[in-house]
Amino acid sequence: MSDTARHPFLEGLSKHRGAPPTVIVIFGASGDLTSRKLVPALYNLGLDSLLPSEFHLLGYGRKPIPDEEFQANCERDLEKFSRRPLNKDIWGHVKPNVGYHAGGYDDPKAFTELKERMLKIEKEAGRDLQFLFYISTPPSVFKPILENLGSSGLARHHDGTDLASKVIIEKPFGRDLDTAKELNRIITDQFHEHQVYRIDHYLGKETVQDLLVLRFANSIFEPLWNRNYVDCVQITVAESLGVGTRGGYYDQSGATRDMLQNHTMQLLALTAMEAPVSLGAEAIRDEKVKLLKAIQPLRLEGENCDAVRAQYGEGLIDGVRAPGYMQEQDIPQDSSTETYGALRFSIDNWRWQGVPFYLRSGKRLARRVSEIAIRFKQPPGILFSDPTRFDLANNTLVIQIQPDEGTTLLMNSKIPGLETRTQAVKMHFRYATTFGSNTPEAYERLILDCMIGDSTLFIRGDETETSWGLYTPLLESWQELGRKGLQSYPCGSWGPLAADKLLWQSNHEWRRAGP
Ligand code: NDP
Ligand code: BG6
Repeated sequence: MSDTARHPFLEGLSKHRGAPPTVIVIFGASGDLTSRKLVPALYNLGLDSLLPSEFHLLGYGRKPIPDEEFQANCERDLEKFSRRPLNKDIWGHVKPNVGYHAGGYDDPKAFTELKERMLKIEKEAGRDLQFLFYISTPPSVFKPILENLGSSGLARHHDGTDLASKVIIEKPFGRDLDTAKELNRIITDQFHEHQVYRIDHYLGKETVQDLLVLRFANSIFEPLWNRNYVDCVQITVAESLGVGTRGGYYDQSGATRDMLQNHTMQLLALTAMEAPVSLGAEAIRDEKVKLLKAIQPLRLEGENCDAVRAQYGEGLIDGVRAPGYMQEQDIPQDSSTETYGALRFSIDNWRWQGVPFYLRSGKRLARRVSEIAIRFKQPPGILFSDPTRFDLANNTLVIQIQPDEGTTLLMNSKIPGLETRTQAVKMHFRYATTFGSNTPEAYERLILDCMIGDSTLFIRGDETETSWGLYTPLLESWQELGRKGLQSYPCGSWGPLAADKLLWQSNHEWRRAGP
């Protein structure tokens, strides 16, 4: 295998001194995430010379797949999903270092065999290798995988070197507070915290990373970023896709566990937290935890209930009829799983008291768009108060996470002419226009960070527990209610009416999300 390093491409890889020689094992490698995101991310890191010169990939799953078949699957995935075209010459030199190992996730013997295979790769390489384990399975098997990594001795510590084993754990990290605590306990038994990377790929998106720059590298926003000027904050993570072939996983999760508790909550934390003392991992994570701790428990009953859940029914997506959730593959006929959630959070701290933070996320909505909208208060209504002439919009700063990444500022302007009349106008900054459009995918950045040991964009154990603490009572109450109170919305809409009413209670309404 080491002779592949003579190829100019692989020699290029070694230019990146940061990442130590690595074997990465992906658990759940026959799945959707591996095909669409992980394999393309590794390939694109390679194209940018960011993989170590000695690099091996092993897929792991329950069904036996010969190495050659897994290599062919990877090649097919790269042709379909890589952001840059597949270069067959380069791939031909990477391919021999790609293999597959079959075994159960709860089978200690399979883990012992995996260890033997990894040690053989290490021996052939003639040097110590970093063992990196990526758990990309449904959360129900996170626990046995972590336990088996520990008991088989694969969680190597290698104290004082950068070759300690590392483990990346996908979201959702547990199902509720108790299971998150249990996972954290198992992790602490087998690994040191610095070996553990709880991933939330939203943190790897360019626009999400830009949030800190926007807030703290510009002097014009931060003075206004508080209860004196902000009327409300709306965070939308909307998808037009349905559950597709992932019904088995999704029905166990729902929009709350799949999106709100993690991706959307990370957006909230970065939007609302105080300035960290540095850009170091601990400083940023400390501020996020502090913010999460200031969030008030959701009100779950009565007129002021802070939460709405709904399931999509049949409807039209881009003019084409789409089935309702209950007609999707692998969905039980009595499913009460929500495919949409809308929440109103209150943050009881000096900066934000009284400012509602609205979060919504759902599948099969009108379009795919993720954004954070900061809606500012109106100025005193003295000069432009005549509603027949002036239609003043609230200034709104929209951070568009995807697609069409950028920032838009909505403000009021005089309409040219002899009369004084106003109209809302938009100032746009677009990433693609300024920086070009072929930026790295979130998974590229995050896998690289993990390989070189930078945990800034990963989630700490206490952070995930604090977040689950906010969501667990809600999930328990919904589970108890079953389908009672579960709303419905047609595919292709913006969600249920009940979500609009949630905002009407405080004289707000959802923005029509998008640039
Ligand atoms: P899949 O449903 O595709 O499952 C991945 C693999 O896990 C399967 O191929 C299968 O492998 C194994 N598996 C599936 N169901 C079970 C089960 N009940 N028990 C044991 N093993 C099972 O998941 P995804 O790839 O979509 O997601 C993996 C993880 O990544 C999840 O935690 C998800 O939340 C997260 N994620 C997914 C994203 C996506 O877009 N797909 C995006 C961000 C995060 P085999 O049968 O070969 O063992
Ligand atoms: C994943 C969810 O975490 O994020 C999926 O499991 C969802 O259900 C996906 O589709 C959305 O990610 P992105 O990057 O396409 O917004």
